[in-house]
Formats: sequence, C-alpha cells, structure tokens
Amino acid sequence: MMRLAILISGRGSNMLRLANVVATGADQTQIVLVAANKPCQGLDSAAGAGLPTQLVDRHDFADKSGQEDALAEAIEAAGADWILLAGYMAILSASFVDRFRDRIINIHPSLLPDLKGLDTHARALSAGYRRHGATVHLVTPALDDGPILLQAALTVSRDETESELAARVLALEHALYPFVILALAAGDLRIIDGNPHWRPGARSIELADTTISDVLKKTVIWP
Ligand code: GAR
Repeated sequence: MMRLAILISGRGSNMLRLANVVATGADQTQIVLVAANKPCQGLDSAAGAGLPTQLVDRHDFADKSGQEDALAEAIEAAGADWILLAGYMAILSASFVDRFRDRIINIHPSLLPDLKGLDTHARALSAGYRRHGATVHLVTPALDDGPILLQAALTVSRDETESELAARVLALEHALYPFVILALAAGDLRIIDGNPHWRPGARSIELADTTISDVLKKTVIWP
C-alpha cells in the first residue's frame, strides 16, 4: 500500500487525475493528504472530492524553514510514505528532500534535462523544438533535477500556439503521472539506492488512444 501526500499550488488538475486513478486501485494506493502552500483552486477541488486537505501557507510562518517543518509534520502525521509534487511551485530545501529521501516525485512539463523552470511551452516554441513533453522524476535538492522515472514526448506542430501545446502536454501528464504511480504500487517500477528500475516486461502505457508498450526506453512517444 502506497500512502500518498500530494503537494500543490494551483489548479490541481494532476492531483485530481491522480485521485481518480487511485480510486480505481484503492487496495494499492491511498491519498492521505493534499497540501498546498497557498490558497488555490486545487485545494478546494480536493476538499470537494472528499480528500483530506491542509493549507500550509508560507505567509503564516516567519521563514521558509518554518513552513517546511510544518509541511513535513503534516505529511508524517498523515502517515504518507510518498510525496507527489503536482504543480507545487516552491523549491524544497535540501533538508526537506533529505528527510524524505527517494520518496518525493515530481512532474515537470518538459523533456528534462531540457527546459527546467517556468514557461516551458513558450520556450519550447521560441526555440523551435520539434519534440516536447513531460517528465516524472525523483526529486533531489536541485530544481527540476533527479533521476528520470519516465518521460512522454510529442511532436510540436509548426503552427501550434502556446496554449494548444500546453493543453496537449497536460493531457500527456494526466496519463503519465498516474501510470508511474500505479507502476510503483504494482512493483513494476522500484527505486533501489536512488535509481529507478523498471521490471522487464512492465505493463504498457495508455496515452490518449494509443498503447505504448516499451516503457523501458524511458521515453514514450505520443504520436
Ligand atoms: C503542470 O503542468 C506541472 O507539470 C507543472 O505545473 C502544472 C500544474 O498543473 N509543474 C511544474 O512546472 C514543476 N516545475 P496542475 O495544477 O493543473 O496539475
């Protein structure tokens, strides 16, 4: 059983997708906390979905480490053993990451290590990228860094706008993130000494209407 804490800062669409998928595999995964560092739409959606929520607002603490300590205590009190960042837009300190070593996962809207940071879709378009996508990775103290668990890529259209590309990548995220979590819960993916190991013959991933069987290549391509 994976007991999940999901950290958010905004819209919360990845969190809701994870919640929906977790509900279907309830014997293997459970969301024990949705926490946010600011009031946001996602926290309201989580409460509306009947999930346990907590606001750990940076403004309620004298400094960042006070906020992180309260967050860590909430996570531990909820009994979470995995922390999923889903649009949590604050950089976690090295001491927080160490406290939950190899137990924090993030999703980022680019094919890391390319395009770390913000505005990834606009930057992909202005750089003329033909390939773009999303990455699920283990969190280390460096921003948008850490061992890659799985990536999903798509081909950028020549006349595509930033919002069109963002929507397509978000759809990819909504398939990719739950897939990785269910793979961890099922033992198809294991983290050993900080490194991901996919079980040979791990299940295929369903992205949109397409089934892609070779997750072991680390990057799945969405046509
Ligand atoms: C997602 O696109 C996620 O990949 C991104 O924030 C968005 C949150 O959307 N995360 C990062 O950029 C982390 N560096 P959501 O709140 O609807 O899930």
